[in-house]
Parts: sequence; C-alpha cells; structure tokens
Amino acid sequence: MPPVLIAPSILAADFSHLQAEIEKVEAAGADWLHLDIMDGHFVDNISFGPAMVAAVRKHSELPLDVHLMIQHPDHYLPSFVEAGANSITVHVEPEAEHDVAKTLDAIRAAGCGVGLTLNPATPFEAIEPFLSALDLLLIMTVHPGFGGQAFRPEMMEKVRRAKQWRDANNPKLHLEVDGGIKPDTAKPSIENGANVLVAGTSIFRAPDYAEAVRALRGGGLE
Ligand code: DX5
Ligand code: ZN
Repeated sequence: MPPVLIAPSILAADFSHLQAEIEKVEAAGADWLHLDIMDGHFVDNISFGPAMVAAVRKHSELPLDVHLMIQHPDHYLPSFVEAGANSITVHVEPEAEHDVAKTLDAIRAAGCGVGLTLNPATPFEAIEPFLSALDLLLIMTVHPGFGGQAFRPEMMEKVRRAKQWRDANNPKLHLEVDGGIKPDTAKPSIENGANVLVAGTSIFRAPDYAEAVRALRGGGLE
C-alpha cells in the first residue's frame, strides 16, 4: 500500500490570505496541494485559473495536483504546465469535449504526472481503457463543482476495483478520492485502497490545521 498522502484543496482556503494559508497547511503536514479549476461550463461553478496556480507555485515547493473541471482541457493544458503544475487530472466524461488518450499523452509529454477522473454517475468501465497510461486515478466522491458536499459511500466500489487493478498491474498508481473527505470518511477510503485524500472544508474550516491533517491520516495509519 503506497503511503497515505494528504492534499488540501485550495478552493476552501481564504484567498485574501493565500500565502499565510499555504504556509499553515505546509506546517500542518500537507503532502500535496490540490487546485480545483472550474470554468462554469463543465461544472456549474467558476473557481480560478492558471494565475492562481502560478501564485500558489510562488509560495510552495509542494507538488501541485491540478484538477481540471473544464471543457477543452487539451486547449488550456500548456498554461497550467507553464504555471507550475506537477500533475494534471482531466475528466473522462464527454462533456469535457476532448480526445482523452491524446490529452493524457500531451500531459505526459509536458513532463507532468498524468491523472484521469470520473464523476459519481460515470461507470468504472469508462476509465478502464486508460488505466495503464496513468500515474493517478481520481475517484470523485461527490459530483464536482462545490466544496462542503456530502461524501458518497457507494463510490468505494470503484475504489476497490481500482485497487485490484493497481495491485495486479501498477503498484505505483495513486488512487485519489475527492469530496466530503473528513476523518470518518477518510478511514473507509483508505481501507478500500485510496492513498491520496483531497480535503477542503475539513482542513481549512478546522481551528487546528495540524490536528485536522493528523485526523485524516488517523486510525493508527500514521
Ligand atoms: C469539488 C472539488 C473538491 C472540493 C473538495 O468539485 O473537486 O476538490 O474542493 O472540498 P470538500 O473537501 O470540502 O468536499
Ligand atoms: Zn478537486
């Protein structure tokens, strides 16, 4: 089992104190920083773009895990690479309007970690053809677009199937879950095979970020 990694989602941070927030989560033990890019088309919300990725890059050496919830991710890819993304995750759904295989190749060619993700309503079969091209598979545990939503436990079935594939084919594949991750949903996620936990509200709304990060890793898995 790869080590458990905690990736705070900057979407829940106080943007007016961005540098301080980044320094606080780094001091709290964050392993990666997760950046949610929303364009108001692929999802019903608008967050931020490459300029925010570049701003976070200025204040952190941590790996930047960029989650593209946008249409035409292939078109905007170069701007996120230039901004300092370390891994880039795109959606498999047709609403993202791109050639998935070509986009994954382009992410690889740009020297970034290659990630693919599927929404709760999307069957696991949709990503199976691409598994061997990935460094990271993100299983959404909420429908994307907003932080603070409730975790969907039925997504653990997909995590288990992904773990089976990983254990049989590529032990280095990161299995990430995103949406509604709190201590009581982190533990079953890890037990079913996830090793990267994205968390927004459960970290940035907590009085003590270090305690929040510890609790997510928790259950004696530290
Ligand atoms: C939702 C995003 C998530 C979100 C997580 O579309 O992909 O990364 O910010 O926030 P919480 O942890 O509050 O559910
Ligand atoms: Zn995300």
